[in-house]
Amino acid sequence: MSGRAHEAGAIHGDFGYRGPAWLRVPPDVNALMTSLWPQTARKGDDDGVLRVGGIPVTELAREFGTPAYFLDEADFRARCGAFKKAFDRADVYYAGKAFLCKAVVRMLMGEDLSLDVCTGGELATALSAGMAPARIGFHGNNKSPRELERALDAGVGRIIVDSFDEIDRLTSLAERLGKPARVMIRVTVGVEAHTHEFIATAHEDQKFGFGLASGAAFAAAERILRDGVLDLLGLHSHIGSQIFDASGFEVSARRVLGLHKRILDELGVQLPELDLGGGFGIAYTSQDDPSTPDDLAERMFKIVKDECAVLQIREPKLSVEPGRAIVGPSMFTLYEVGTVKPLDGLRTYVSVDGGMSDNIRTALYDAAYSATLASRSSHAEPTLARVVGKHCEAGDVVVKDEFLPSDIRPGDLLAVPGTGAYCRSMASNYNHVPRPPVVAVRDGQARVIVRRETEADLLALDVG
Ligand code: LLP
Repeated sequence: MSGRAHEAGAIHGDFGYRGPAWLRVPPDVNALMTSLWPQTARKGDDDGVLRVGGIPVTELAREFGTPAYFLDEADFRARCGAFKKAFDRADVYYAGKAFLCKAVVRMLMGEDLSLDVCTGGELATALSAGMAPARIGFHGNNKSPRELERALDAGVGRIIVDSFDEIDRLTSLAERLGKPARVMIRVTVGVEAHTHEFIATAHEDQKFGFGLASGAAFAAAERILRDGVLDLLGLHSHIGSQIFDASGFEVSARRVLGLHKRILDELGVQLPELDLGGGFGIAYTSQDDPSTPDDLAERMFKIVKDECAVLQIREPKLSVEPGRAIVGPSMFTLYEVGTVKPLDGLRTYVSVDGGMSDNIRTALYDAAYSATLASRSSHAEPTLARVVGKHCEAGDVVVKDEFLPSDIRPGDLLAVPGTGAYCRSMASNYNHVPRPPVVAVRDGQARVIVRRETEADLLALDVG
């Protein structure tokens, strides 16, 4: 684990508005992976204005409006590159559920990454942007026959099967279409990942995968190999998301490799591949201390090598599926402050022009975020604030606790870092609020990669 402390933080004395020192150029790519802000984010020495890709956010707000997500393209690409380099003997599948659009697919292609999709919609996005089908992995616990047919038609590289119903469905489709179907078995390894209950996925009592302890995973392999229709590439395990303790991945690797060994011994087949999923945690506040891709890769390669030596099996080709760790810190959300309500003896409520419709994570997972005044400098005393949205709901909180300058006022811009993963992708139209755009910024140029939704878009769905 990296022991580096972060410059920008939420509640422990590192107040982002203080000056330029808190946004330094990270010294190397691994340090970049542990930082809260994208690599080109800087605060102006004189004016305190946040800049990304060389452009002041005041200008970006004028041109693109608020709220808006800004993607630092150089940062996104650097994170792709860091995973690619660290996992050089493995395949890196970017998990599209974290954030996906056609421009991102093209960036992934440019950085030579593969892609994990989990619905027909994500698959359609990948294919329409020109991603090679062979580099796509297709997940999901309830893929429809139509989705499976489309995946087979397109020739996706691998389908991660999740139930006996799906094995039946895919087997008959592959026979009917006469198409090859390369599959992996999603194994539930029984690891209790230390993360929020809603995003832990490898304990026995949940909807994903085939249980290891119950024998279901072995039975799935037996059925696939006996039928001889599907091409079984290997086993897959994903233990959850926003995980800091890498030992969970090690336990998982050991258990899945144990199943590889059993399949070899009892069914006579050495499976060539092993996917250990994604879930690598990122820093949301200065309290978080994530692993770097180098740390993760070293530990994963070692455990696989050592375990295979013990089991006397060939090392399968490894793959991983990071989503959050690539896109999370590459983006921030920019809001405009609308109202400020100091509540005596409690805190100051700072309302912004977005909220739970563009970031549901605070309400849903009790996620911690930080915020900084982005449009000017201030030397006012810090005051305990809660950044809230405009929705008709008391739980509409974006940042639960943050010290903001006490002269915060309507018209100020606030930036919330670390919103690249599962914010735009989980955005809703609650209260008929149109979803914000995503703007990619690079080398002084900004381009919209997902446009802002309009009221006309919302009304277009109403019939009659
Ligand atoms: N692979 C599989 C099979 C997954 O299910 C997931 C995430 C990933 C990879 C990528 O995980 P990541 O590296 O991004 O943590 N909405 C939640 C996260 C749900 C994760 C679902 N699966 C959140 O906002 O925290």
